[in-house]
Amino acid sequence: RSIALIGAPTDIGAGHRGASMGPEALRVAGLAEALRERGLEVHDTGNLLGPYNPWLPPTDGYRHLAEVVDWNRRVMDAMGEQLKAGRLPILLGGDHCLGVGSITAVARHCRETGKKLRVLWLDAHADFNTSQVTPSGNVHGMPVACLCGLGPDALVNLGGSSPAIQPSEIRQIGIRSVDQGEKRLVKEYGLDIYDMRFIDEFGMKRAMEKALEGVDADTHVHVSFDVDFLDPAIAPGVGTTVPGGPNYREAQLVMEMIADTGRLGSLDIVELNPAFDDHNRTGLLAVDLVESLFGKSTLMRD
Ligand code: ARG
Ligand code: MN
Ligand code: MN
Ligand code: MN
Repeated sequence: RSIALIGAPTDIGAGHRGASMGPEALRVAGLAEALRERGLEVHDTGNLLGPYNPWLPPTDGYRHLAEVVDWNRRVMDAMGEQLKAGRLPILLGGDHCLGVGSITAVARHCRETGKKLRVLWLDAHADFNTSQVTPSGNVHGMPVACLCGLGPDALVNLGGSSPAIQPSEIRQIGIRSVDQGEKRLVKEYGLDIYDMRFIDEFGMKRAMEKALEGVDADTHVHVSFDVDFLDPAIAPGVGTTVPGGPNYREAQLVMEMIADTGRLGSLDIVELNPAFDDHNRTGLLAVDLVESLFGKSTLMRD
């Protein structure tokens, strides 16, 4: 299986500058080399070019909406091109607003190839805000809502039809920060969420078994890995840390259980922010976890 790395160096949807350095931090941490060591063929397609971050306050509930749309179009096209070529694309973000473009491309690919889609959203946040309820105007807090048809027309219809995905196609894992109005929306749309309370009570194994229920030979699994999913004690290099996240072993188990399905078809690695990091340790950890996602066992299995 051949892999395509797609860099999207932007923090256009975030509330802190610096996620624009994420693609290079992942390269410096040895992402391509680690995947090649797994026996995979890796094509680094380089970085997409998009608008600079003008760093303006929100207008009508969105910061930088036009630029966010522009970046997402480029991401959607690049992901779509690699999927069409039969490669497994890895989006190197960039902030999580890019999940709209990435997953819109993946959903379209699934429709065209008759596959079922399962999105695994690994995150501290539900990212289900709208311009009405957002506390920040930052679009990285809105991509799941946009994908489910709730949001500005340009993002909701990025792929030409809306909604890009059904709420039933997504599972969220590790959630521990949901804003007041966002909670109502998440409930209304019936999102399937394995939050930290669930993980504390039943364990990560049970959460992942449930999140992967129904994944079969006809399923394309997309992982949207927001690095702030991880506990800040092990992953300080993100703009929006939330205490009480999965520890190292829990995170490894998540990746290993996904790898065991053999159905991984595409991946986002987003929100890595070297400006908040300590000697790229969060970038190195992300690479370590991605190795497990591609089948490297921390035990003696291989
Ligand atoms: N819920 C907050 C907001 O909407 C934070 C969102 C953080 N999202 C992320 N992808 N890091 O502003
Ligand atoms: Mn997050
Ligand atoms: Mn996120
Ligand atoms: Mn390693």
